[in-house]
Amino acid sequence: MTKTHILSGKRMLCGLALAMLLGAGATAVVAQEDPVAARKALFKQMAGALKAPGQMLKGETPLDLARVKEGLAVVAANSAKLGGLFPETSKAGDTGALPKVWEDKADFTGRFDTLGKDAAAAIVSIKDMDSFRAAMPRVLGNCGACHKIYRKPT
Ligand code: HEC
Repeated sequence: MTKTHILSGKRMLCGLALAMLLGAGATAVVAQEDPVAARKALFKQMAGALKAPGQMLKGETPLDLARVKEGLAVVAANSAKLGGLFPETSKAGDTGALPKVWEDKADFTGRFDTLGKDAAAAIVSIKDMDSFRAAMPRVLGNCGACHKIYRKPT
């Protein structure tokens, strides 16, 4: 490799690092400016990540441990961010969140902690169909239980 090649490679890496930094910054700005859009995107991503494991749970597709754990990792990561995306200023507008979110904020936020803990525990405990059947419904139960209380009926 010639010197110029090495240099341009370095420049490309710098550009990549900068793009990644800007990307991360942009996400943070979006979350600040529009927490409703930010939380909806995280919820949608979780639902998407749980689609395949849901089909496996119903026996529609064979158990794929790697995919299950990938999905659970998304749930663990997103639930850690979601609690912070319900500021007082985001009650109105195009949101499916009920006012109760802000009346019972500690209980509401605590449910994301439980979801994250259950997802993390499931990543460790799921090893076969039996342990999958034992752990997965518990994780998924957190979604519906919270929606029932804090989300407008759809
Ligand atoms: C602690 C409460 C809570 C938990 C736990 C929770 N949700 Fe939600 N979810 C909400 C609320 C509140 C909304 C409405 C958000 C809004 O519109 O601002 C919502 C909205 C959604 C939406 C609609 C997003 C959109 O685009 O409008 C989806 C999909 C969703 N949740 C999936 C899930 C899944 C899947 C799980 C479990 C892995 C989950 N949720 C766990 C409270 C929760």
